[in-house]
Amino acid sequence: MNNLVNPAKIVLSAKDVHKTFSDGTGSPVVVLNGVTFEICAGEIVAVIGSSGSGKSTLLQILGGLDACDSGEISIAGRPLNGISQAEMGQLRNELLGFVYQFHHLLPEFSALENVAMPLRIARLDEIHAHERAREALKALGLEHRLTHLPSQLSGGERQRTAIARAMVTGPACILADEPTGNLDHDTAMDVFEQFVQSARSRGCAILIVTHDQLIAQRCDRILRLEEGRIVSEDARCQQTGVVQSMP
Ligand SMILES: Nc1ncnc2c1ncn2[C@@H]1O[C@H](COP(=O)(O)OP(=O)(O)OP(=O)(O)O)[C@@H](O)[C@H]1O
Ligand SMILES: [Mg+2]
Repeated sequence: MNNLVNPAKIVLSAKDVHKTFSDGTGSPVVVLNGVTFEICAGEIVAVIGSSGSGKSTLLQILGGLDACDSGEISIAGRPLNGISQAEMGQLRNELLGFVYQFHHLLPEFSALENVAMPLRIARLDEIHAHERAREALKALGLEHRLTHLPSQLSGGERQRTAIARAMVTGPACILADEPTGNLDHDTAMDVFEQFVQSARSRGCAILIVTHDQLIAQRCDRILRLEEGRIVSEDARCQQTGVVQSMP
C-alpha cells in the first residue's frame, strides 16, 4: 500500500519508534515498541487505544516535545533526529499545530487575541494577525464571539477557539490529544465536524487521539495502539483513493 504514496505528500512519518519510561522504582515501562506509520497531506487520522497505551506519549514525540529512545520521525520530509532545539522550535511553529483536552487559552485575552497570539509571536503586525484570526474563528463558526474572554465562552466554543489558534498559522498537520474529551457527546461531534471541515478547506492533516468510537469512525483512517505497536490500521482512505488520487 505504502508504495502508492507520493513521498512529497507525507506530512508526518514515524519509523520503528521506541520509548521506555522508568516506573519510579527503576523498572522499565515499554510504552512504544516499534511504531511505524505515515500521515499524508490533508488526511484525518484517529489514534485509539486503551488508557495508558501510549497515545499521548506518541503525540508528544511526534511534536518534538519529548524525545524517543530510537526510531526516526520526519515532519514534511525533514528528520527530527539530531536537529537543535532552535530548529525543532522553528519546525514546530511552521508545520505543526497542537490542540489538547483542556483549551489552555489565556484568560485575560479575547478569543480573537488568543487566536492571533501565535501570529503576533511570529511578529506579524496586529492588523494582519487579527484579520487571519478572524478568518480562522469564522471557519469554526465563532465570528460572533471575537471579543469574548475564555470565561465568557461555552466549553465547545473554547475548544473551537483553541482549534482556530492551532489552525491560524497554516500548519501541515495538527496533533490533537482528545480535543473533545471534555465535552458532552453532541457538542463533541459538532466541534469535531467543524474541526475537520476547517482542516479540509486548508489542506491541513489531523492526527487525533480519541476515546470516542464515532469520532474515530468519521476519520479517513484509524491507528490502534496496543502493547506499544500499531496493531490495526483501517486503510479505508487508501482503498477509496484519497492517497491514490494525489498527483
Ligand atoms: N514522564 C513519564 N514518566 C514515567 N512514565 C510515564 C511518563 N509519561 C507517561 N508515562 C507512562 O507511559 C504510559 C503511557 O502514557 P500515555 O499518557 O501516553 O497514555 P495514553 O494512551 O495517552 O493514556 P490516556 O488514554 O489515559 O490519556 C503510562 O503507563 C504512563 O504511566
Ligand atoms: Mg493521553
